[in-house]
Amino acid sequence: MMIIMTSRPPKIVDPISKREINRLFYAAERRELPFATQAGFEPYQEGVVRIIRDIARQQGSERLRIMELGANDCSFAMDIMGRLANDGIRTGVDYLAVDFSASALDKGYARYSQMPGKGFEMVRNVEVPDSAKPNGKQDNVIYLVQRDAAGFKDAWASGLDVVIMNELLDDLSYDVYFTDKDGRAYRLECSVSRPQLRWQVNIDAERVDRKELPVQMPPRSVTATSAEAMGIIENAAALLRKGGVMLVHDYGFADRYDSVDTYGTPNVSYKITQVNFPKHPQLSMPYDFFRVYEDVAEFAFEPASNMIQVTSPVNFGEIEARLEKEGKVLILPHGRIILHKMQRGESLAKGDDVFMSEFGLMEQDETVAGIMDSLKPRQQEIIDYHGKLYSPDFYDLVFLKR
Ligand SMILES: C[S@@+](CC[C@H](N)C(=O)[O-])C[C@H]1O[C@@H](n2cnc3c(N)ncnc32)[C@H](O)[C@@H]1O
Repeated sequence: MMIIMTSRPPKIVDPISKREINRLFYAAERRELPFATQAGFEPYQEGVVRIIRDIARQQGSERLRIMELGANDCSFAMDIMGRLANDGIRTGVDYLAVDFSASALDKGYARYSQMPGKGFEMVRNVEVPDSAKPNGKQDNVIYLVQRDAAGFKDAWASGLDVVIMNELLDDLSYDVYFTDKDGRAYRLECSVSRPQLRWQVNIDAERVDRKELPVQMPPRSVTATSAEAMGIIENAAALLRKGGVMLVHDYGFADRYDSVDTYGTPNVSYKITQVNFPKHPQLSMPYDFFRVYEDVAEFAFEPASNMIQVTSPVNFGEIEARLEKEGKVLILPHGRIILHKMQRGESLAKGDDVFMSEFGLMEQDETVAGIMDSLKPRQQEIIDYHGKLYSPDFYDLVFLKR
């Protein structure tokens, strides 16, 4: 007899928001995330470590303090701390791995805390990091902190050197607006229910006054603004020391708005989800703006939660405009063409103009500030080049606080 180890998701009659469904998605027990992120790529990890090394050198701090928001099961934290330990970095390192999912943090703790000879220890159930007492100067510690990134301000008062957010922001709540071919404005809404067996993702478009648009938008364009994401960015920037770095990786768009055509075709490949659109036959709208990820089993014996997650593209232009007031900001495309190149066995090279090449291959005599200054004048050209090949793409934002 074949046993299929899948679990039954909850019945949800009254529609809930994107934010709420994502909370349920991450609260569910699972072995692995049902998708891979850039955090698992060695050249990305190497880029982050080289940046940390440069920041440690520039800051000369006694202890290096890193915070990752949306750290999930701490796999990335483990990779980074392992690389720093191999590096023989002289300062002690405190790594605050923050996530609101208890099940993800518990899984990471069970998996990694007893690994021998890794050069650092793990501490779980830390209420606020100020209560965490490092044992000595040379200790390297990962603190697993179960908290909502929104409103999180409790990191060490002495400040942080590095903040990392990897595919956190697309989970949050967004206000989405688009314009039709005549420039009329609409608000795009998304809610989720599961009254019976299939998930229902309900997309609605409500006509609004153009005055409600968060930015000036030409016809057939779409934008998203997130007070929640901006609050997290602002808190993180405030927690950084001068000379500290924030790294944000996610999918989205780098200008203040994107073209409706980028999201013009509805995704019809969902297995346990039905997406319902408004019935305005004339309206061409960004059908695929909200994306659904289903945690379903690909093979019969694989456990799966059968939960869904709804993401939206991140507005990197909005983040850049906010952070530019406080330091240098650089946005680089993830450049999926580079990944294809690597899959064909070719190597990354300086001049590929993506995070993984420019920071992953950063030399001893280079600095984060120097690389940012040299690429910033060509930022738009680099984004346009990659945007023609893949859109929407993922982006890496680097912020160096003044
Ligand atoms: C797409 S996963 C990315 C995980 C990891 N950063 C990576 O790149 O593999 C998003 C993570 O963010 C967490 N998360 C989402 N919203 C959060 C919030 N408001 N506060 C804290 N964690 C959150 C989820 O629990 C999940 O672990």
